[in-house]
Amino acid sequence: MSKYITTPIYYVNGEAHIGHAYTTFIADSMARYERLKGNKTFFLTGTDEHGQKIEESAAKANKPTQEFADEISATFKNLWDEFGISYDKFIRTTDNQHQVGVQKAFETMFAKGDIYKDFYEGHYCVSCETFFPETQLIDGEFCPDCGRTTTIVKEESYFFRLSNYEDKLLAFYEENPDFILPRSRINEVKNFVKGGLRDLSVTRTSFSWGVKMPKSLNDDKHVMYVWLDALLNYITGLGYGKDEENMDFWPATAQIVGKDILRFHAIYWPAFLMSLDLPLPKHLGVHGWWTRDGEKMSKSKGNVISPKEVADAYGVENLRYFMLKEVPFGQDGDFSQRAFIDRINSELSNDLGNLLNRVIGMSEKYSNFEIDGVNVTKYHVKEIDAMNVVLDSLDEFMQNMQTHRYLDELWKLFSIGNKAIEEHAPWVKMKENKQDEALATVALVANILAKASVMLHPVMPNTTNIIADALSFTINTQSYNDLVVDKKLLKLCNIKKVPPLFPRVEEPLMQEAPAAQPNKKEEKVQEIKEEIVEKDNLIEIGQFFETSLKVGIVVEAEEVPKSKKLLKLQVDLGEGSTRQVVAGIKEFYSAESLIGTQVCVVANLKPAKLMGMMSEGMLLAAKDEDGLCLVRPEKPKKAGTPIG
Ligand code: MSP
Repeated sequence: MSKYITTPIYYVNGEAHIGHAYTTFIADSMARYERLKGNKTFFLTGTDEHGQKIEESAAKANKPTQEFADEISATFKNLWDEFGISYDKFIRTTDNQHQVGVQKAFETMFAKGDIYKDFYEGHYCVSCETFFPETQLIDGEFCPDCGRTTTIVKEESYFFRLSNYEDKLLAFYEENPDFILPRSRINEVKNFVKGGLRDLSVTRTSFSWGVKMPKSLNDDKHVMYVWLDALLNYITGLGYGKDEENMDFWPATAQIVGKDILRFHAIYWPAFLMSLDLPLPKHLGVHGWWTRDGEKMSKSKGNVISPKEVADAYGVENLRYFMLKEVPFGQDGDFSQRAFIDRINSELSNDLGNLLNRVIGMSEKYSNFEIDGVNVTKYHVKEIDAMNVVLDSLDEFMQNMQTHRYLDELWKLFSIGNKAIEEHAPWVKMKENKQDEALATVALVANILAKASVMLHPVMPNTTNIIADALSFTINTQSYNDLVVDKKLLKLCNIKKVPPLFPRVEEPLMQEAPAAQPNKKEEKVQEIKEEIVEKDNLIEIGQFFETSLKVGIVVEAEEVPKSKKLLKLQVDLGEGSTRQVVAGIKEFYSAESLIGTQVCVVANLKPAKLMGMMSEGMLLAAKDEDGLCLVRPEKPKKAGTPIG
């Protein structure tokens, strides 16, 4: 069976950070897992090099755009090479083969009648490389995805008939409930499509750093829209439109993406593929975002984590393990050295490292480094059964990309091993002259380690090779089939000593993140974003109570001049003086109608400026397609009454 795994291609406007490493580690582990099982596997990663954003970054760096792209693309490739990422191809969207493929796809869609020429006037966000209708903008100006200021652009453009694909996409989601993993993510996609799809502008005339139009269209002033260009990498990477060399790997088995680019992958990409009459990917694995010590990472805050720095300090395989274990796939995660160190010390060093040392030590003492497994089944039926249950459960977790569950479950093997040693105390058996029994326990644990190493191999390839070497076997498809599928036991082996694999870490090995510098622009962006980004993390009850909600009474209300959305309110929260709250509710409430009414207020938000006015709280409101309404207590309550 053939398998095709992809990462997103990374923008070359900055070097790799920990979020990029995460996507790449997941995809690499999945690809390695498939290869281990003996499946013919193709793993694609690369860089996304066109578009206005890259053109602007190159200009800022005072470099020709191609030279700039070459340099940054090389930093990604070198890093992945240093990390041992097992990609089969590293694609660059400036590769000739890719560009030819994109032109071929464009011609095909055009010939089919899915692309037509018209004019576009709209609000463009350069950072997201996306047009937004005015209705979607925040405060008539800011990008609904990233919160940055948009600019008005009017230009001739080719359009892709995305609107024609609404029904087909909805039918596809219905028929393929596992298309998006975790499954819970499908709703936001369905709702977006149900809200109506507008045709998509797929060319630009305002800049030139992009794939040129196909010659047959004879229209040089356009270049391709960067997302059309970028998404097609997943098939041009297999040779689409040129030699088609690896197209038999299509459709992709798993395409890993971050939640910020879900819409492009779950809506545009399937629609493009339908237009090209190509099958759709089997799964889109959508992961969450990493923060550092609870803070969003950003260059201006100076708290971005360089994966190279972490890997140099703690080892790349420890980092892979930590990232895949720490976060339930799909949820946001936080990178803190404390959490990382705890996992290294307790899970890698204690659970796994110590078990290995104990086996090596006992085999040295009791049997001159030789292990004979003939008696394992005689004394350890219970443990073998438990071990097999774990081994059988693992595949499903990897197929569903639940790497944290996969590792959690895998770690049960080490508890079985540790428990067996405690219960059977081989040192006591040796004293009682029951050597057979003692050696059977050592052999059981050696087998547990062997099987666990095979299954841990996709996540920690080098470390597990060292363990396998110590147990005198090799990790490959044959040993996977023998030890995991057929549940055979290693009968005889010579144990070798290994250097300590997971030295305990006592002190943080990297400098702590600098205290995040407040940055007004960032804060504003963050504030807008936080209102709109759907939070998908489950929280502890304590986290909920960190928010102070109170009943407030609106004492004064007035319109904010020149703002379509904002009203300025003075709200009594029972604190003696009133608080000023600037709220985006002008389209739904007149100022007068609010005076004297009760509202629910988030009372412990950091004050923030909106259009130059300080806002010291936020009103709770419910909004859907029919409009917005404020959330209020069912019966009047005193100003300042806590809610919760
Ligand atoms: N070039 C586009 C993807 C085109 S794919 C046809 C792009 N590039 S990116 O460099 O901005 O992001 C690449 C991936 O890194 C995305 O999946 C994104 O979600 C992920 N991450 C970027 N920052 C991240 C975190 N802080 N945490 C986790 N992943 C994040 O988007």
